[in-house]
Amino acid sequence: MLQPGRVIISQAELQGRIAELGTDLARDFAHERPIMVGVLQGAFLFMADLIRATPIELTTDFIGVASYAGSKSSGQVRIVSDLSVAIEGRHVVIVEDIVDTGLTLSYLKRTLEARRPRSLRVCVLVDKVERRKVDVPLDYVGFTIPNVFIVGYGFDYDGLYRNLPYVAALEGE
Ligand code: PRP
Repeated sequence: MLQPGRVIISQAELQGRIAELGTDLARDFAHERPIMVGVLQGAFLFMADLIRATPIELTTDFIGVASYAGSKSSGQVRIVSDLSVAIEGRHVVIVEDIVDTGLTLSYLKRTLEARRPRSLRVCVLVDKVERRKVDVPLDYVGFTIPNVFIVGYGFDYDGLYRNLPYVAALEGE
């Protein structure tokens, strides 16, 4: 049975690094009133902690994306739940839980860029750089991890384990 095993990023490590990311964002966007765009579902925990660590005026929104029928590697990504506001002329920060192949983020950046934001940055909690297929510049990165399947803190296996307060490797038979 597959279940959460070895801790990859502890709760304390998560909170410590997120505090640093929040400080960086607050410095870079102090007077810009950015819109923080969380990518559903995985990023909702990170988003909640990140904005509380970012003591400036900001607004929030969410976008839901999915790969076309089991063909993630094809790069066929689509929006299943769009933003609720226009982003033209706004400073936008995409808040994503993980970059793996980079296909999702690459699509998202292209799509949002077409809406003419004033700026578009990316803040990612976990970078699995070994798996990259397309190059996507990342502006803020929490952790770089090796190619292990992770669960917890928003990361799921078959919908489970998102609610763990830390990130663990999925282990077992
Ligand atoms: C995950 C993650 C990213 C994407 C990264 O989403 O949240 O959006 O995969 O992979 P890529 O770099 O190879 O494109 P997932 O489809 O697991 O959905 P979830 O966020 O709802 O768990």
